[in-house]
Amino acid sequence: MSRPLIEITNLSAGINGKQILKGINLTVHAGEVHAIMGPNGSGKSTLGYVLAGRKGYDVTGGSVTYDGKDLIELPPEDRAREGLFLAFQYPVEIPGVNNTYFLRAAYNEQRKHRGQEEVDAVDFLAIVREKMNLELLRIWKEAGKTIVFVTHGISEAVFLGTRVVVLTAGPAKMADNFAIDLPHPRTLDMKTHERFGEYTRRIYRLLGME
Ligand SMILES: Nc1ncnc2c1ncn2[C@@H]1O[C@H](COP(=O)(O)OP(=O)(O)OP(=O)(O)O)[C@@H](O)[C@H]1O
Ligand SMILES: [Mg+2]
Repeated sequence: MSRPLIEITNLSAGINGKQILKGINLTVHAGEVHAIMGPNGSGKSTLGYVLAGRKGYDVTGGSVTYDGKDLIELPPEDRAREGLFLAFQYPVEIPGVNNTYFLRAAYNEQRKHRGQEEVDAVDFLAIVREKMNLELLRIWKEAGKTIVFVTHGISEAVFLGTRVVVLTAGPAKMADNFAIDLPHPRTLDMKTHERFGEYTRRIYRLLGME
C-alpha cells in the first residue's frame, strides 16, 4: 500500500464553542478516493474546513498530519501550496441563471434530431452527475491525485470511492470506514453487481434509512 498522506488522529473540533467533531480517526493513503458520508449536520463540511484551515474553526484535540507535517500548524495558504485544496464538485449556480437549462436544451435538440424522447430536468441532472463522476475518475487516474469528497449520494460514494467513511450524527464520530473492493476503471455496469448492492445497503443501514 502507498504512503499515508493524511493522518487524522482523535480529532476534535468545533465552532463558536460548539463541539462538532468528536474523535475522528482517518488515514488517507496517497492515491485513494475517500467518500465522506453522514447525516445532515453531522460535521462533514466542518471536517473539510478544518483540513483546509478555514478561519473560525477550533481544533480542540487530536492531530492531523499531511505528508508527515503537522497540518494544524500550517496556515491555509501553505496548505494549498502543499497541494491540499477544498473543492466543490458541483458548480454553484447563479440564482436565476441555471446553466444546466441551456445544456439540457441543447441535449434535447440532439435527442429530438435522433428521434428520441426528451429528458426532463431531474433525469438530465442525473445524467450530468454521472458524466461528471466518470470525468472525475478519469482525471483522478491520469493525475494520480488523492481525493476526499463529501456526498449524500450513496451509489455515488460506492461508485467513486476506494473507501467510504460514514460519520455519526453530531458531534461526529466514526460510524464506519470500509474499502470498496471493486476493480478500476469503474464502469457503469458495476452498479448492478451484487457487491455494489451490498455496499449501498451497508450505508443505508448506517444512515438509518432501512
Ligand atoms: N458557524 C456555525 N456556528 C455554529 N454552529 C455551526 C456553524 N456552522 C455549522 N454549525 C453546526 O455544526 C454542525 C455540523 O455542520 P456541518 O455543516 O459540518 O455538517 P454537514 O455534515 O456538512 O451537514 P450537511 O449534510 O447538511 O452538509 C451542525 O449542527 C451545524 O448546525
Ligand atoms: Mg455540509
